Amino acid sequence: MSRYYNIQVFSRDKFICAPHKWVMNTTDPARFFIVYPMDLEDLGLRELEEKFKLHNPQTPLIIIAVICGGIEIECPLYMGLNLNRILRTPTRILLRLAEFKCRDAPKLYQKMSKFNWAPWLLGQIPEVTSAAKNSRLFDSRKIDKAIQDGVAQYYRHKPVKKRYLDHLEVAKAQALPKIYFRTEDDSCTLSIDTTGERMHLRGEKILTGLAPIRENLAALLLIELRSHVKSTDITLIDPMSGSGTFLIEAKNSNKVTENRDFSFLHMPLAIDSLAFFNNSIEETKITFFQAFVGFDINAEVVAQSKINAPEIDFSCVDLFSKSPHTYKNPVVIMNPPYGIRVGENINLEYFYKIIESVKNKFNPEILGIIIPDDYKMKTNSDFKILKARPFKNGGIEVTFYVLGFK
Ligand SMILES: C[S@@+](CC[C@H](N)C(=O)[O-])C[C@H]1O[C@@H](n2cnc3c(N)ncnc32)[C@H](O)[C@@H]1O
Repeated sequence: MSRYYNIQVFSRDKFICAPHKWVMNTTDPARFFIVYPMDLEDLGLRELEEKFKLHNPQTPLIIIAVICGGIEIECPLYMGLNLNRILRTPTRILLRLAEFKCRDAPKLYQKMSKFNWAPWLLGQIPEVTSAAKNSRLFDSRKIDKAIQDGVAQYYRHKPVKKRYLDHLEVAKAQALPKIYFRTEDDSCTLSIDTTGERMHLRGEKILTGLAPIRENLAALLLIELRSHVKSTDITLIDPMSGSGTFLIEAKNSNKVTENRDFSFLHMPLAIDSLAFFNNSIEETKITFFQAFVGFDINAEVVAQSKINAPEIDFSCVDLFSKSPHTYKNPVVIMNPPYGIRVGENINLEYFYKIIESVKNKFNPEILGIIIPDDYKMKTNSDFKILKARPFKNGGIEVTFYVLGFK
């Protein structure tokens, strides 16, 4: 059962980390900050709760806070690190290493030189990303230098074991964990990145069409869509499927991400217990949607999506062609082209025309559609807006509308 300290979404300003013990073993309780695309954190929470229960039914997940941009949790260290492979909606996962008061760079250097880096670093001087607010330590160059010099000083007293140095030689630089440092009102939080390249990179889809949606955004919007579906045995349709991201994400919603590197795999603590990490994940093939169908007007894009996901039914069809398609319990999700991204001549009428075509062609129970905020949808005689979720897609302000047809 989940235990919540707080599930309100706070602004970052109000959120203050509580102190916690330093972690040393894979089963120790550890704090993580899971980063999500802004405004969709509650959907991330739904996935987190579901998957955590699925993979760790005996262990309670402690949600410390849901704040703007992420969720702070506490759970055993190995489970938190494995969330990188289990979750499909976050951007990245940071492990909280320490919290302390600090007002100047020499003191920060002192703290960093005494911090126990042995479980986390292989002998490298880590890249640092720092942020400061209302603090006497505010110059990011000075902060980064104090941390990096402190780490170098630590190694002088605690030389790194040869097996870790050997691992470091073969590890790719971009996969090595970065340090994240944040200070607010002189309260500092030291974290280490456990993810590396952003989590939307699954290591499986290779070919992309025009303006593909990020995989983790697609996974989040599918969670929203699911919550409005009433029938079972559903066919999920994307009539403008591009590289097929929505359909691939829906099909792989419970898939474990195995084919890519994660930063935590380059931490001594994980290297020493790799088998343990690998044994603690059980994959399930159960998915919410049962069949997956994609269409696109562009034959080249269709050919690419077939290579990306041969098990999904993709074909070349113009949404505005008249012929209807009959599927069992259809539900539609789509990300039509927006003017700015693909250079089409777009206006409000274009989106109403899309909605009308979807209704005539597939007669779905509901439609989830991304529309730029320049064009506001209103409930009308054809459909009702069941939900409108504003968010940013590739820097553009858009809304994901869930429409129920009348
Ligand atoms: C923004 S992209 C969709 C991206 C897709 N969600 C992905 O992640 O790859 C829009 C797609 O709509 C397709 N398209 C544009 N007009 C269409 C039409 N009339 N019928 C079907 N597809 C169309 C384009 O070829 C393009 O692949």
